[in-house]
Amino acid sequence: MSGWAIEVRVPPGSRAATAARLVEWTELAVEERADGTLVSFAPTRSMTRALVSKLEEAFPTGLETACTRIEVSDWATRWHDGLGPRRIGRVVIVPSWIRPEGDPADCRVVLDPEGAFGSGEHGSTRAALRLLERQVRAGEVVLDLGTGGGILAIAAVVAGARRAVGVDHDSQAIAVAEANARRNNVDHRVAFVCGDATDITPLLGPADVIAANILQTVNCALLPAIRQTLRPAGRVIFSGMEQEEAEEFLTVLEHEAFAPIEELCDAGWWAVTARCR
Ligand SMILES: C[S@@+](CC[C@H](N)C(=O)[O-])C[C@H]1O[C@@H](n2cnc3c(N)ncnc32)[C@H](O)[C@@H]1O
Repeated sequence: MSGWAIEVRVPPGSRAATAARLVEWTELAVEERADGTLVSFAPTRSMTRALVSKLEEAFPTGLETACTRIEVSDWATRWHDGLGPRRIGRVVIVPSWIRPEGDPADCRVVLDPEGAFGSGEHGSTRAALRLLERQVRAGEVVLDLGTGGGILAIAAVVAGARRAVGVDHDSQAIAVAEANARRNNVDHRVAFVCGDATDITPLLGPADVIAANILQTVNCALLPAIRQTLRPAGRVIFSGMEQEEAEEFLTVLEHEAFAPIEELCDAGWWAVTARCR
């Protein structure tokens, strides 16, 4: 079978938003290369043209695209290529087709992202996971807003949380996340809810830790709901933003009376842990 690989270059400040739109439009994971190029896929020439037109409309400045015809047996499984175990602090992400090895004390998460975001290969996921595993304490309740394939919710319970709830407005992501929870035998401690996190977060609390690896605009819109839902000593981890967005987001946090506790960057992606003041 043949198809089209679509290479997309945008200015760094638009990369997260572009990747999110590509995932939304194609319902497939997007590869991000080391130089920041995003690579998406469409099965036909007309779908490729339609995707490029949508990109040009949504991102009129600084966009460059290149489309190449490729032979693929099954694009939906190409994300298998090159994925291996990944250590992020005490959490080790292991794809299901790899036999687990290593220290039994590791918090091992068996995870296949399939079409949903969150294989542990993306800088924003790794940054969120690193901050999350430092925050989660035994017995706590964790919410994972924009859960994708459920990586953060599942890692939270594997790292000791009593229970976790993941929220995503994409029903396909929820199905992948549920399969991943079953694969890790934690489906009795992790639940997934399909819906808009800005609406339903307060219904899922109170929570000790909340993670939100989404776009900056969504993270900002979530602040009132997060404040309502966090326990007094609670911590919130925001990711999904590029390094250039940090200053602006810290100003919004300050304005909304959240105090940053810890920040980190991974491959140009910035994440921050904060608490309510
Ligand atoms: C960058 S991915 C993060 C996935 C995973 N949590 C991780 O850390 O890799 C963001 C996810 O947020 C979801 N999302 C975006 N806006 C949302 C909203 N308002 N409510 C719920 N989910 C949302 C997307 O569907 C996507 O799965």
